[in-house]
Amino acid sequence: MQSTGQPVSRYQDKNWWRQAVVYQIYPRSFVDSNADGIGDLKGITSRIDYLKSLNIDAVWLSPFYPSPLVDGGYDVSDYRDVDPKLGTLADFDEMLAALHKAGIRIFVDIVPNHCSYLHQWFQDAITSLPNSLERNRFIFRNGRGENGELPPTDWVSHFAPSAWTHESTFGGKHNQWFLHYFAPEQPDWNWDNPEIEEDFLKTLKFWADRGVDGFRIDVAHGLKKDLSEPFRMRNTLEHEVDRPADGNGILADRNEVFDVYRKWRKLFNQYDPPKVAVAEANVLPERVPLYASEETLGQCFDFRFIFIPFTARSYKESVAEAIELAKVNGSSCTWCLSNHDQIRHATKLGLDKSVDRKLWMLSDGTSAPLDKESGTRRALAATLFILALPGSTYLYQGEELGLHEVTDIPESMIQDPQYLKNLKVDKGRDGSRVPLPWNAQADYFGFSTGASHLPQPAWFKDYAVNVQSGKAESALSTYQRALQKRKELICEELITWHETGNAEVLHFSRPNGWNCLINFEGSDYLIPQGEILLSSAPITDGRLPAGTTVWIKR
Ligand code: NOJ
Ligand code: CA
Repeated sequence: MQSTGQPVSRYQDKNWWRQAVVYQIYPRSFVDSNADGIGDLKGITSRIDYLKSLNIDAVWLSPFYPSPLVDGGYDVSDYRDVDPKLGTLADFDEMLAALHKAGIRIFVDIVPNHCSYLHQWFQDAITSLPNSLERNRFIFRNGRGENGELPPTDWVSHFAPSAWTHESTFGGKHNQWFLHYFAPEQPDWNWDNPEIEEDFLKTLKFWADRGVDGFRIDVAHGLKKDLSEPFRMRNTLEHEVDRPADGNGILADRNEVFDVYRKWRKLFNQYDPPKVAVAEANVLPERVPLYASEETLGQCFDFRFIFIPFTARSYKESVAEAIELAKVNGSSCTWCLSNHDQIRHATKLGLDKSVDRKLWMLSDGTSAPLDKESGTRRALAATLFILALPGSTYLYQGEELGLHEVTDIPESMIQDPQYLKNLKVDKGRDGSRVPLPWNAQADYFGFSTGASHLPQPAWFKDYAVNVQSGKAESALSTYQRALQKRKELICEELITWHETGNAEVLHFSRPNGWNCLINFEGSDYLIPQGEILLSSAPITDGRLPAGTTVWIKR
């Protein structure tokens, strides 16, 4: 529970993360400082005032490490440096100092399941012999078939039909195959090799010593694999491969992974306040607490609000379930509606519920109409709803502008391996990663003075920061006000539900009288007595319209 004892400086409070608001920056698409069309660390430093104006507690930076950018930087070739395209370690230190000075903490992304094929250790492995020390840092095996021409198993990867690639693709000459849970350019580490454990502890310490406050752990359920032979072949049930109920999956969510995280926790706890971590683990809900335990990573993303429909019933059920899960080990809830892997939530909520979003994206957003206004309106309502819940909230850059997904990136400009390597069955995630519009009048909307690495559509001008700043009813002002109020209102991590007598309206309160009501699709609802603190859309005659959230104090 939130500490209620003696006041402590926020910087010493070891519980600061429990109800923090963390703003995700996708560095390449935030601000570009040197006109090469790629956002960079100096760009982030130049916008500290903006970040401060958001009243966030921390930023989380998606990877900025040296990378050939096959998977947007989640293909790391050196874990302890900055990609020259994005800056230098000195730029990083400068950015961190400026963030801390502004009272904003920083999470960096750690990608331990796989690296880039350009990582020196993979380059060493591919030129070494089978069974060599160099190859043993990865997962190399002989193929099946008379001449080893078939992959060792039928396992599939997220970004390619097979989870195995023949080494010849990268110049290897020994007829072996290597394992990759994602793209072939992202070889998986062999976590049964203690050298890998040691190297990641070194990486964590490197960033922790530089002053980083927390870590977001990519594919935290990966790392350990069942490599016992004969290999288990893929079952028709997906969960037996990577979403097991019993910790005995083939490719992910294996119980041994917690041995790794217990060691990481020991390292985190050597700092004061301890470093924090949040797991990105795509696992069955009942396994989430294992990642969020105070002996392991401490917190685990809960992505349910990204997927559930915008209905009173699913919102209420989801909150209840998430709170129960967080209680299992005393972690705090993690709410989020958008991130760099998902269609922006304003867009999801502007589509009819019957629309298959994947097919809609493949049609460049033409197969069904998008009601942008309703989408942004519902998105703000959903955001104010989750911001009033106990726990921490993870926001994604651009959502504070009510920004929509870009659906029509021309095929020649698509970067995402989810499209390119995946037989093009999925349009991919670039549409949520288009550089932010800062200034409606400027070239490239003030993101850069050179062509941006992903094209910004003309309609981005309507969402630009300078158009929204200071306008009371803009999405940006609503976020700024809500986050400011939230800071004042934050209290014990408890909620009480109240009957509304209306199936479309939810009402809950926090112990200090902070009440939140949301009307999904019902007719105007009479707001109970109390001081109206703020709302996601204008309120008239004390009535809450559909697609609106209000906070009141009573
Ligand atoms: C999850 C990251 O969020 C995503 O962007 C990436 O493609 C995969 N992990 C692989 O690292
Ligand atoms: Ca740049």
